[in-house]
Amino acid sequence: MKYIEDIDVRNKKVILRLDLNVTIKDGKIVDDTKIKKSIPTIKYLLNNNAKVLIMSHLGKVKTEEDKLDKSLKIVAQSLSNLMNEEVYFVNTTRGSELEHSLDNHKLVLMENTRFEDIDGKKESGCDESLSLYWASLGEVFINDAFGTTHRKHASNYGISSHLPSAYGFLINEELIGLDPIINNIKRPFTVIMGGAKVDDKVALIETLLKESDYILVGGGIANTFLKSVGYNIGTSLYSEEYVDRIRTLISEYREKIIMPIDVVVKERENISVKSVASVPTDAAIYDIGDKTIEKYKEYIQKSETIFVNGTMGLYEDEQFRQGTEHLYQELSHVNSVKIAGGGDAVASINKLSYADVFDFLSTGGGATLEYIVEKKINCFGEE
Ligand code: 3PG
Repeated sequence: MKYIEDIDVRNKKVILRLDLNVTIKDGKIVDDTKIKKSIPTIKYLLNNNAKVLIMSHLGKVKTEEDKLDKSLKIVAQSLSNLMNEEVYFVNTTRGSELEHSLDNHKLVLMENTRFEDIDGKKESGCDESLSLYWASLGEVFINDAFGTTHRKHASNYGISSHLPSAYGFLINEELIGLDPIINNIKRPFTVIMGGAKVDDKVALIETLLKESDYILVGGGIANTFLKSVGYNIGTSLYSEEYVDRIRTLISEYREKIIMPIDVVVKERENISVKSVASVPTDAAIYDIGDKTIEKYKEYIQKSETIFVNGTMGLYEDEQFRQGTEHLYQELSHVNSVKIAGGGDAVASINKLSYADVFDFLSTGGGATLEYIVEKKINCFGEE
């Protein structure tokens, strides 16, 4: 795998894969960290007189309807503002306009690569003809999308199989920043694991359990854990299909999986803290409770390395951010190696102003977890 400085990009047409998969709410970008962190590679390419065609995914696109709020147009505007450069947006993923876009523009952003998933999962399935087509639009491929290094898709693995390829400055920064977790990890190693859905994470949790000493579970994923050991979780969202698998994990790794003992629930308009054994049938869980916060603080205090992935509750709402915020506060008091990764974790850390507490904030979620486990990245094909 080559580094951007070891490949000739001067005067070339470069396809640049970035991870511009930002959260958009009410038509606004919630956190632009990923966009900002992509800029050094873009600038380097422009300074080398390259013409740059940027590709990225945004969310998951399964239906025509999904396309409505998954366009990268808003990202093109944001990138243009941040760079003070024209970013020409092409609102398709193939066709004549795309093919000629670099004739008159030096910086182009193509529409969401996953629009190609509607008809036969061509992007996610790494379709060979799509990979070849996209590769035909440039002369060199630079991949700087650390957040998707765990995916073998047409826009990363596929294109790199057909063009001289290298990784960019952000991937390099990530490899250096994550080094303390990859090599000679100081133990105990604790993962604070939150977030909305367990589905994306269960396979990684299984492998992480072999690497880590403790996993503190919170956020939406904790609901499935609580459900699997028989607690009533009221109307809280959980994933029925993972209940058995998680029950097996809990019995196998009883000492490592640490679950909430109390939770903040909303029952109609009333908000209260309940023991996990007494969540009312018509209530939903939105945060971890005070006793859980105290318990999780003890694990933070005795850990030498801590990785934060996901939030402990619905931190966007002030009423449900205690768990997330108290753990960040505790992290500010300990001297361990502290790293966070994943869109929600980084967005919450920035929003609540705890970025300085961390040794490194990774732009990857699943990608970072997979890198911690596998210790290599898998997104480059053989040219
Ligand atoms: C992320 O936000 O973790 C990356 O952009 C990858 O997104 P994905 O899980 O939809 O592939």
